[in-house]
Parts: sequence; C-alpha cells; structure tokens
Amino acid sequence: MEKSDAFMFDNLDTLPEDPLLGLTQAYRNDPREEKIDLGVGVFKTPDGTTPIMRAVKEAERRLTATQQTKVYAPPVSVPGYIDHLSALVFGDAPASDASCRIGVQAPGGCGALRLGAELLARRGAQRVLVGAPTWANHIPLMEAAGLRVEQEPFYNKASGTQETGDFLTAVEQLGPEDCLLLHGACHNPTGADLSSDDANAILDLAQRRGFLVFIDVAYHGFAQDLEADMAMVRQFAAGLPELMISYSCSKNFGLYRERTGAIFVQGQSERVAMAAQSHLINIARGSYSMPPAHGASIVAEILQADDLRKDWRDELSTMAQTVREKRVMLVAAARETALGEALDFVAQQNGMFSLIPVSKEQVSVLREDFGIYMAGSGRINLCGLTEANVGQFVQALAAV
Ligand code: LMR
Repeated sequence: MEKSDAFMFDNLDTLPEDPLLGLTQAYRNDPREEKIDLGVGVFKTPDGTTPIMRAVKEAERRLTATQQTKVYAPPVSVPGYIDHLSALVFGDAPASDASCRIGVQAPGGCGALRLGAELLARRGAQRVLVGAPTWANHIPLMEAAGLRVEQEPFYNKASGTQETGDFLTAVEQLGPEDCLLLHGACHNPTGADLSSDDANAILDLAQRRGFLVFIDVAYHGFAQDLEADMAMVRQFAAGLPELMISYSCSKNFGLYRERTGAIFVQGQSERVAMAAQSHLINIARGSYSMPPAHGASIVAEILQADDLRKDWRDELSTMAQTVREKRVMLVAAARETALGEALDFVAQQNGMFSLIPVSKEQVSVLREDFGIYMAGSGRINLCGLTEANVGQFVQALAAV
C-alpha cells in the first residue's frame, strides 16, 4: 500500500501564547535584575514569594500519614469537601434552603466556570452578558461551550470609577433564556466591586426578568473577610429561585496548581437541584471524568479540623491585609511623583488587581524599557509591588 502524503495535523496553525500565562514565562526569561512582575494573579508575601499556607502544609502532612488508598473519589466530591465549602459560601442556611442547592467539585475555578457554561448550553441558553472589562479567560470559557457572550462596559478606565448606567440597561434586556455573569468580591481586572445599590438593582431585575445569575467567586476573603465578601452571594441566594456560583480555592487556600474549585447550583426545588447535579457530573464524565483529589482533600481537612481552620482564617486575613497595604503604599508613592492623585482610586478598590490607565503601547514600553510586566489591559497584580520596587514602578509610569 502506498504511503499517504497528507496527515491530520499538516495544516495546524500555531496559536499565540495565552496573554496572561505567557507573561510569567516572559518575566522569567528577562535577565534584568530590576524587573518587576505584576502579571498573573498570585499572592506574594512582602519579600516577593508565594509560600504554601501553614494550614495547607499541615493538612498535607496529616493526609499523607492517614491516607490508605488512591481509588477514585465519588464523582460529586471527595468526602467533606463540598459540604464544608457550601457552608463557607452560603453560611448556615436553613436545611430547607440547603436541599435546593447542590455542589460539584471541579478542577479549579476555570473547571467550575466551564461546567456551568456547559450546563447553560445544554439548557439552550441564548447569551451570557458580562460587564466589560472582565477577566480575560471568562470569554473563551463561555464561548468554548458554544455560548454567545455580550460585553457591556461598566467601568471608566481613565478615572478608575464605575459607570454602570449602560450596563444596567443591558441587564434589563435579559430574559429567562439568558445568563448574567457577575464577579464575587474583588473584581478581576478592575478591583471595582458592584456597589450595594447596583447589586440591589440587579437582584430586582433578575427577580422580574427571570435571567440566571452566575457569580464567579475566586478571591473569597481578600476584600474584607470571609463573611462580608459573601454578602452579595448570600443576598442573591436568599432573593432568587435559581443561582449558579463558581468557586476557586486557588488564591484563598493558595492551591493554584492543585486545581481546586467547585460549582454550586441553587434550584427552585430539590428535584431541580438534583437534576442540575446529574448533568454536571455527566458533563465532567464526558470531559475529564473526575477532578484531582489532592487539593480538595486538603481543603476538606482544613475546614473540618478546628485548629487548621482557625490557622487558615488567620493567615488568609494577614494575606488580605498585606494586599490592602500595597494599595495604600502605591497611592502614597504615586503622590510623590508627577502622577499626583492619578492613582488615588486604587485605595478604594478590592483584591489583588487594579486597572492602571495606560494604553497597550505604554504597557509595551513599560515592559521593554523598564522590565515591568503587567497584562496588556493595564491590569496590575498589586502583590508584585514591594517597598523596594514601588518607587521604581511609579517613576516608570510617570515617564510613560
Ligand atoms: C489571573 O487572572 O491572573 C489568575 O486568575 C490566573 C489565571 O488563570 O488567569
């Protein structure tokens, strides 16, 4: 038989690197000593490292000492993980509410978002509305499930303030076949969370128009604390018959590479919730079968042991305080330069990120000429700023 001269992948084109993940590699390859990494959203201590959290280390030690088997975990979750996480998300809800809610373990917040997107697609959802700008990976995660994403600006980058008028008008057009994707506390990339007035307006619209609200929670504990950061989620859970939440343990447990997340669905009845769970498990089975167990086992171990739970809360609270201090530090340093009060808005925002009013070209100059790495949108991870480099950063910003 003659050999074929054409093969499946002959014409496969090479895609550019992911804009956010590619930044880390470019930073590592940069030989300049004075380089600054403000790229991917990972927490850093004041000395610039991302250590394993104390409670995680201890939970791992206990797990290794007691674990007897590596057989598959149940498709919904490793024992205890979803139950404990559910209490962290919804608080101590009455049992009648809890029976209308389900959770399914997922590989990270991205895995949870994708499971949610696939569930929406199975249900024939028409479109997903999201405020612009949003986290860069929201769009591909939704579109990969075949959903149509519409973006409506809610933020003025130049002034660092929210302008939600057009966004709320777009929300008003949504109907029962549509989904509204919102951020939980610590908006990525702006750091600008919804005001309580806007949250009330959206809740009211969701009740009247029947669209599904999907809240992406990836920085729980980094704005104020574990209770306050869930205020909007719990308000929506109490006020809406249906709700979907994706949850990531990457930042608040520092479990990034362990891919530890979950998707929660609230339905009108236990039957609806169980139907949603059956679909989510079925979607996962047809994709990656089941998520990795290690990270979720660590979270379950931490949340069920009083000593570990307390230590985790304490360390998370210190981490959140560190990030808040970086905001104040940046604003003070900017005021020492020609930037003046131009970055004052940063101190009003939450979480790891703020959007600096620079153009794509200025972002390139900052990278090429000053060794400062940030997302093309002008998003900075404040954790990358230190007492030692903040002066260098604001002077470079003033120069461009
Ligand atoms: C980020 O936004 O930098 C993080 O959530 C990491 C990621 O996956 O993009």
